[in-house]
Amino acid sequence: MKRIRGLVSIALLLAGSAFAQPKKLGRLDREGHAWWQHAVFYEIYPRSFADSNNDGLGDLNGITAHMDYLKKLGVDALWITPCLPSPQVDFGYDVADYTDIEPIYGTLADFDRLVAQGRKRQIRVVLDFVMNHTSDQHPWFLKSKSSRTDEYRDWYIWRDGKQADPNAPVSSGPLNANVPTGEQPPNNWTSIFGGPAWKYDSTTQQWFYHFFDPAQPDLNWRNPRVQDAMFDAARFWFNRGVAGFRLDAVDTLFEDPELRDNPPYFAPNQLDVGGNPFPGALPRNDAYGMPEQRRLYNDNLSENHAVLQRLRRVADQYGAVLIGETWTDNIAELKRYYGDGAAGEIQLPMDFLFANVNRISAPEFRRQVALVESSGGWPVYLFSNHDITRAYNRYGGVHPSDEVAKLLAALLLTLRGTPILYYGEEIGMENRDPVSREEVRDPIGVRGWPLEKGRDGERTPMQWTAGQNAGFTGGKPWLPVAANYQTHNVSSEEQDPNSILNFYRAAIRLRHRDPALREGVYVPLNPEDPNVMAYIRQYRGRAVLIALNMSPETQTVSFDLSKQGYGSRAKLRGLLVSNASREQMLSSVSLQAYGVLIGEVVK
Ligand code: GLC
Repeated sequence: MKRIRGLVSIALLLAGSAFAQPKKLGRLDREGHAWWQHAVFYEIYPRSFADSNNDGLGDLNGITAHMDYLKKLGVDALWITPCLPSPQVDFGYDVADYTDIEPIYGTLADFDRLVAQGRKRQIRVVLDFVMNHTSDQHPWFLKSKSSRTDEYRDWYIWRDGKQADPNAPVSSGPLNANVPTGEQPPNNWTSIFGGPAWKYDSTTQQWFYHFFDPAQPDLNWRNPRVQDAMFDAARFWFNRGVAGFRLDAVDTLFEDPELRDNPPYFAPNQLDVGGNPFPGALPRNDAYGMPEQRRLYNDNLSENHAVLQRLRRVADQYGAVLIGETWTDNIAELKRYYGDGAAGEIQLPMDFLFANVNRISAPEFRRQVALVESSGGWPVYLFSNHDITRAYNRYGGVHPSDEVAKLLAALLLTLRGTPILYYGEEIGMENRDPVSREEVRDPIGVRGWPLEKGRDGERTPMQWTAGQNAGFTGGKPWLPVAANYQTHNVSSEEQDPNSILNFYRAAIRLRHRDPALREGVYVPLNPEDPNVMAYIRQYRGRAVLIALNMSPETQTVSFDLSKQGYGSRAKLRGLLVSNASREQMLSSVSLQAYGVLIGEVVK
């Protein structure tokens, strides 16, 4: 990354906030970095953020109305999950038109206003791009299913069924009504939303493939016309001022052309040293009762990469960012999604191995950060999103605490890389899983109940106030509000200097102002310490030290920074603390339970 020395020194002379934010929404910041490298992203699930017309569902005008809140929080870019026309089977992830806005969320004019109000405050807008599939109500699919010879037939994946193997488990049930006797799906692939990944269509007497819900048929990315149509949709939004996309389900764009059956999945403890299952080992069933499989032939195929390279070239024409929903199992796979040089792919592929450490554990976070750092790409970190249980509960355990929430914030916002927050994380919103099947709205929960409760729990209404419906709506909210809204809401936390919200605000402000936190190299410290994760971020002769006590007991640790040129009398001058005192000696740093000390190292 090129650095512009002159500009940096001029910028350092400027007052904090002026230094923090470029004046215009230019492609490069004052230090010569791409805007997305130093942006703090904030994910909004529009259905649940703010309801401006009291129909119980959040909408775009609700987001616009809270733009000042977002500005004060300090975020630089919003990622809004799908708000395009959709039957809402998967709440927008089933798109029926790629160039309009879903009426329950507003209009294109509302969207333009949202973008303009954001731009006024130097907040960019990133949309979700659902590339793998459309809604079964999209005109492309309606045409495709109308006849085997329709010009859109090959836009989706249609195949003849197989004659039943008398030994294979019979696939039956409501999804496959009208299937001719003795006929089975084209292969054994299962949908991650439960059941077979094929649905029979009685009009044309063939099966179509759906990795997700049957209402979300997979597009055939081997068809160049599909590619062109989708890239045109991307351009439509770039031309409207969208700053990038979060790419939905990009690892499943392509399937094996021969449709080979997937092998069963065996857990590591079911395999011998040669990687073969022990005799008699049986694959476990998934939450929907189907045997688990290794998705060898319909996930992470190498053909994905050529499409991403093409999409990146389109994005580059607009200075836009691509954020990937990349569920990779290891760093080599993650690395591939960055691409290379002229064959660049996704600038920010998400690493879910970090999000899913799932324990407050210094050794595990240290290990995962080291792996991501070794990938060579610009890291992107997150803890929560609309598909995973909120971090407040996942990391807080049975009795989640605000201290743990602040510790997570400190980690997320001081690592080298781009952080993504999930709405409500900044106030410590907790999960609220449905308590009965009747309450469930998410298609996964409807199908998988009670083993799979679905994702409603992490999508509850934003908690603005301690009042009715947490101030989200004057109507009946589409999902019940989470239990902690009376203590954890924007309005109460604004008043409390020790709230999670004020901690997030301070940490983001610090990150914007301090070049070491944005740009400094990451140097792990005390690599054997089981309790305290510590590192410095070093930049141009300055070092900021971050010490995070990942244990419920007080810990006292010492740091040797002689290699960095600091002697035994060096001190830490606290920039932001939680459960720790501000001024401490480097040789003896004390942190109470889950304490945080972010401090400048001074000689
Ligand atoms: C992604 C989304 C998820 C959605 C699925 C199908 O995983 O994050 O919410 O259900 O894709 O589009």
